[in-house]
Amino acid sequence: MTETLADTMEALDLTKKPTVDGEEDFVDPWNVVGSSVKGIDYEKLIKRFGCTRIDSALIERFEKVTGKPAHHLLKRGVFFSHRDLHTILTLHEQGKPFYLYTGRGPSSSSIHMGHLIPFVFTKYLQEVFNVPLVIQLTDDEKYLWKDLTLEETQKLAVENAKDIIALGFDVEKTFIFSDFTFIGQCPEFYQNMIRIQKRVTVNQIKGNFGFGDSDCIGKISFPATQAAPAFSNSFPFIFGNRKDIPCLIPCAIDQDTYFRMTRDVAPRLGCPKPALIHSTFFPALQGAQTKMSASDANSSIFLTDTPKALKTKVNKYAFSGGQTSVEEHRRLGGNCEVDISYKYLTFFLEDDARLEKIREDYTSGAMLTGEIKAELIAVLTPIVTSHQESRKKITDEIVKQFMTPRPMKCGL
Ligand code: TRP
Repeated sequence: MTETLADTMEALDLTKKPTVDGEEDFVDPWNVVGSSVKGIDYEKLIKRFGCTRIDSALIERFEKVTGKPAHHLLKRGVFFSHRDLHTILTLHEQGKPFYLYTGRGPSSSSIHMGHLIPFVFTKYLQEVFNVPLVIQLTDDEKYLWKDLTLEETQKLAVENAKDIIALGFDVEKTFIFSDFTFIGQCPEFYQNMIRIQKRVTVNQIKGNFGFGDSDCIGKISFPATQAAPAFSNSFPFIFGNRKDIPCLIPCAIDQDTYFRMTRDVAPRLGCPKPALIHSTFFPALQGAQTKMSASDANSSIFLTDTPKALKTKVNKYAFSGGQTSVEEHRRLGGNCEVDISYKYLTFFLEDDARLEKIREDYTSGAMLTGEIKAELIAVLTPIVTSHQESRKKITDEIVKQFMTPRPMKCGL
């Protein structure tokens, strides 16, 4: 998840970096390369992946069924696509159980703003539905894909868990696990991994994930490890031996590849297919062709950045949709479609009226590039500083509580 946004660009095998010749965007769990400054063409992705756009009727039903206002990330189309969300809403209506599953690949200790998005939204979903949540930290995935030692990835998992916990998840309803630590403690989880492995061929994996014959065999079997948490009997301490409790997976759209495979296998295991709700990518400061990467310090706002660093990065690197001179800008106005400060505001500024006013003023030329950047800095700075405050309070003991297999307290 990226992230979960996965640190896609970072995980790239550079020898195989896909090229985009101005025609098609390239998206798989490790590569996101857009062909236009407006970013990825999500409509095309929806078609290619075979998922469904979230339309206003679905958002209306969401509000009606939950009795809660839709989150701004949902209303503004950051979470824009789904599979079987209607089924989940019907379960909620009928008071039937389901759970949430999301994850993160711990590839770096420096979490950036983009990594927060799926977790902020997942927390909202958990509060709205009052259901158990499992969060997978794929230290094994990052060990396989990156130049990190096993010990390093495990450490990063714990560091990342602290950032996730700092968002305010409820310990009574949230189980966070690292693959390296947890799988050996839970035979049922491992059994599901192997059940899945038995039902997917090398050909299917190669085609969908783009693996080649020189990739290590760990990569080829890893998708089963990310699929296993989508089946409720992988967590007997939460769900007993029930394998029929469905899950909803909030994730960035690049993770859909894993879950298409999971949905394909599910009926053959006698399990429900996981439902999904997909987000767009969080763009790099330099522009919307890619998502942010933790490996390029200047492409991202990190949760560890000082207010000063944040300000400098926005002013220096945030790609502008403004004109080259003030006179031109006043005359022609700015382009919110490519302006990164505006894009970021749609993610983090909750006030709809304020956002709309900024859009109007920037588009008309009444607001200058320096001014929209100042707006963004004013919105991001308190988010980052208050995150740092919350994170300081997360002790090893608290992490241990979240990461201990145990029953969850929510109506099961
Ligand atoms: N592969 C994801 C990443 O690299 C981590 C992940 C595991 C995940 N399980 C997930 C993300 C479920 C979203 C949903 O970030």
